[in-house]
Amino acid sequence: MEVKTSLLDNMIGVGDMVLLEPLSEDSFLGNLKKRFDHSEIYTYIGSVVISMNPYRSLPIYTPEKVEEYRNRNFYELSPHIYALADEAYRSLRDQDKDQCILITGESGAGKTEASKLVMSYVAAVCGKGHEVNKVKEQLLQSNPVLEAFGNAKTVRNDNSSRFGKYMDIEFDFKGDPLGGVISNYLLEKSRVVKQPRGERNFHVFYQLLSGASDDTLRKLKLDRDFSKYNYLSLDSAAVSGLDDAANFRTVRNAMQIVGFMEDEVQSVLELVAAVLKLGNIEFKPESRCNGTDESRVKDKNDLKEMCELLGIEQSVLERAFSYRTVEAKMEKVSTTLNVAQAYYARDALAKNLYSRLFSWLVTRINESIQAQTKARHKVMGVLDIYGFEIFEDNSFEQFIINYCNEKLQQIFIELTLREEQEEYIREGIEWTNIEYFNNAIICDLIENNQNGILAMLDEECLRPGTVTDETFLDKLNTICADHQHFESRLNKNSKFLNDHSLPHNCFRIQHYAGKVLYRVEGFVDKNNDLLYRDLSQAMYKANHSLIKQLFPEGNPAKVNLKRPLTAGFQFRASVGTLMRNLQTKNPNYIRCIKPNDKKASHIFTDSLVRHQVRYLGLMENVRVRRAGYAFRQPYEPCLERYKMLCKRTWPHWKGPAREGVEVLMADLQIPTEEISYGRSKIFIRNPRTLFFLEEKRKQCLQDLATLIQKIYRGWKCRTHFLLMKKSQIVVAAWYRRYAQQKKYRNIKSATTMVQSYTRGWQARKLLRELKHQKRCEEAVTTIAAFWHGTQARRELRRLKEEARRKHAVALIWAYWQGLKVRREYRKFFRANAGKKIYDFTIQRIIQKYFLGLKSSMPSMSPIDRKWPARPYGFLDGVHTELRKIFHHWRCKKYRDQFTEEKKAVYEEKLEASEIFKDKKALYPSSVSQPFKGDYLEISKNPKYQKLNSAVDEKVLLADVVNKINRANGKGTPRIFLLTKKNFVLADQKTGQVKASIPLPDVTSVSVSTQKDGFFALKLKEGSASAVKGDFLLSSEHLIEIITKLHRIGATAADREKLKVDISDEFLVQFKQDKVCVKFIQSSPKNGNSVSCKRKNNRLLEVSVPTSP
Ligand SMILES: Nc1ncnc2c1ncn2[C@@H]1O[C@H](COP(=O)(O)OP(=O)(O)OP(=O)(O)O)[C@@H](O)[C@H]1O
Ligand SMILES: [Mg+2]
Repeated sequence: MEVKTSLLDNMIGVGDMVLLEPLSEDSFLGNLKKRFDHSEIYTYIGSVVISMNPYRSLPIYTPEKVEEYRNRNFYELSPHIYALADEAYRSLRDQDKDQCILITGESGAGKTEASKLVMSYVAAVCGKGHEVNKVKEQLLQSNPVLEAFGNAKTVRNDNSSRFGKYMDIEFDFKGDPLGGVISNYLLEKSRVVKQPRGERNFHVFYQLLSGASDDTLRKLKLDRDFSKYNYLSLDSAAVSGLDDAANFRTVRNAMQIVGFMEDEVQSVLELVAAVLKLGNIEFKPESRCNGTDESRVKDKNDLKEMCELLGIEQSVLERAFSYRTVEAKMEKVSTTLNVAQAYYARDALAKNLYSRLFSWLVTRINESIQAQTKARHKVMGVLDIYGFEIFEDNSFEQFIINYCNEKLQQIFIELTLREEQEEYIREGIEWTNIEYFNNAIICDLIENNQNGILAMLDEECLRPGTVTDETFLDKLNTICADHQHFESRLNKNSKFLNDHSLPHNCFRIQHYAGKVLYRVEGFVDKNNDLLYRDLSQAMYKANHSLIKQLFPEGNPAKVNLKRPLTAGFQFRASVGTLMRNLQTKNPNYIRCIKPNDKKASHIFTDSLVRHQVRYLGLMENVRVRRAGYAFRQPYEPCLERYKMLCKRTWPHWKGPAREGVEVLMADLQIPTEEISYGRSKIFIRNPRTLFFLEEKRKQCLQDLATLIQKIYRGWKCRTHFLLMKKSQIVVAAWYRRYAQQKKYRNIKSATTMVQSYTRGWQARKLLRELKHQKRCEEAVTTIAAFWHGTQARRELRRLKEEARRKHAVALIWAYWQGLKVRREYRKFFRANAGKKIYDFTIQRIIQKYFLGLKSSMPSMSPIDRKWPARPYGFLDGVHTELRKIFHHWRCKKYRDQFTEEKKAVYEEKLEASEIFKDKKALYPSSVSQPFKGDYLEISKNPKYQKLNSAVDEKVLLADVVNKINRANGKGTPRIFLLTKKNFVLADQKTGQVKASIPLPDVTSVSVSTQKDGFFALKLKEGSASAVKGDFLLSSEHLIEIITKLHRIGATAADREKLKVDISDEFLVQFKQDKVCVKFIQSSPKNGNSVSCKRKNNRLLEVSVPTSP
């Protein structure tokens, strides 16, 4: 069971100062000391956390502690900074209220540590996941980087923040961190060039020299020895407990996690090295002819190295240290610098370089950690600003720092009172005002726009004429003379005229936290923060990207003659913005207190703490808190805590919590003036009442504990007894059952044995009887079988004898009857029976033949030669006749399918067969080729258009033939056209008609018996066409041409039938000569083509290759 502790449990002193009784400064300090001595460094004043710096690490920041405080109410556990962080985080997450955590206290009081604790607590309790963890890690790792560059050892604090930091952590609606924004406030840059005794420059210089590798240092042209650098104070260079080398590695690692690129880190280190080098540049005077001194760089080595590091031309920088150019309107005036001015310029450059680098780092970190989404964020701001400080020698920086702390004190006063007041009003409780010191008057002394110190400093800086720190002090003396918090020796106020603790060049301010003496020296310069234009221009010219970015005003294209804003003005403005920002958020305070000045643990310097308690206004804080009511609590937890004190509310109260509390308080007879009932909370005026309640509760808890113990013990014994009893019954039952089972098993086995013997004896007896009976039955059966056998055989013999006799009688009877019938019917039977049987048989056979033929008919294809075999010899004639009839019938069926065109084609083919079959060897190859007629597509081909028009008849055949030359036997291609009336030979290329012969003039055609395509067209002697003689032609379609010619002759009525001579030798009339055309067979070796040669006047020889 979870044990809930409370702020009020196991308390050392009082955890909340509001409960302190009696309340006085001594008791307040006593309580702080008591708690501090018991390592209780946190104490509350209501919701404000006072944190004492323990100066040692305490085991109270473990992950277990984080878990303990997670999601618990503020007053539920003993005071802790985690309780405040948890409260702030939960109201941010659950109530959507932006929060700010204001950490105040003087230098070394533990503000920075507290801010880191708050951040680490929030990081531990908020969401997890890869992205969220990355954001958390980046936010946390921004601290080491900024601390290295912005913190330094001072006499008050070994890790003193020398800049102000306000960090907004942004969360999404679930409370997961999205990113953050850091704002920085005025870095104490004067520390770069000079440090008070016992203090150090910024950590990064020492870290770089101690922690960087030899290689890095060589690249940066640095030496590990601190003493080589003027800007590093040597007396306190090493700080005990601070490992610079290890810290350097931490910083490098942190920069990597935050997202710095390797070259960015290198640039940053180069700038740090350049500042160190700059400090080593020294000057010497050089007399000029006009008697003035001009500064010159003494040893140029450092200058050279620095210029190399930053990529600056050495001569440009050297000149900037010797001359100063002043631009006024259109004029440029160059004046020489003396040695002091050169040192001033050098230091100004170093300070500017460093402080701008610091601001760049903040901007760069912001780029990395900024939230990636544009969605609305919830914001938790953590303010860790340099604490109030008083040094031996306080200058402009301390003035600024202390002003900032004044403002924070102011906001604390305002918000604490307002919040308290608002709560009473919210809860409907009456409220009377409490007196406290309001430091608004001091803030006004510093920041008033007309006569505030900062306004006057600005006025002095901008004034023409000679302006010095003294003239500024004079001005203060005249204007602030009457202010009760301003003190000066030169003040007309005689009070300080003899005050030797107040030197002439100083003024003193009574801050809320004490009097601080400020030396005016440097105020004007630091406020002006001037950097000679020549220097910024030299920096702008650098061949180094980072340096160029840091000095944008050095760009000659952007010369701005306006004076830059003063440092004081800028700071006042940024503090104003910060205050306005803080006022929009719900404040949570951590008031840090420093227990001693020695940075030592366990020492509690009374006077020092008393002083801080005073100026922090903590007593007023308690009084304000107590003036109304010392303690308040919402009704629900209050009823939960005290309900056991009243019978009516214990153990459960059914009604509203407020009524329950009222009943409870009435029952306890708490005086009514001691308590007030707000809307949601009960307010208890006196801590005594609370202690009374607590005391009562403690007693009641003891009684309750006894009661619980009693009941528990009774319950335990009874439960034990009942358990034993139950167990005993179970055991007895089991045993009885076991015994009975065993007895039963014995009896059962004995019975079975007896039974088996008896049954065996009976069975054997029965078996014997049955066997005897069986044997008797078998003997009877055997005797009966033999007897029946004998009987049966005897009967069988008798029956057989009888059957034989009957059969003999029947046979004799049948023969006798047969004889009688044959004798009677012989005369009818022999005359007709033979023919009838024959006819019948023949008829059946023929019927069978037809049926068989029907089922085995061949196909309808005319070329199918199949016909069923003849079954009977006497049907031979019929069978052959039927075959013929069937064939003719199917041929007819086949022909009936033909169209007219197809019929003509077949007729042509038939005619070709009649002419050539078995007469010319070319014929068989032509059978399968269809007769196309028009091979040249003469009517469609535009080339033959002319030819087509010359022939007026329908063209029956058009083909290219070879016309054989009569002289040499060579062939010339000619177009051969055949119409019904004539044939035409035309030029193949031009289509020009060479000869047109009317068909009646053609008397006969001669062809060979061989495979050639030669044919001679013989013309009618004496006809007009025969003048040139016969035509000897050759064609691939010889068969078709001659068949067509023959058909035309056959169908024409006006002429005779064309004669076709088929012979291997025929005569052809060439003009007057008759030439014999002879066809011989040649071997295929001489080529595959037919060749024709004129052998002599009378002979033309055509050699036709024999087919292989
Ligand atoms: N809670 C703590 N536990 C242990 N040591 C602490 C704690 N708080 C502070 N310290 C110690 O006190 C030193 C100074 O604390 P810190 O730097 O936080 O002071 P500061 O208030 O920020 O001072 P400054 O105003 O000079 O920056 C720390 O370096 C650390 O050694
Ligand atoms: Mg700090």
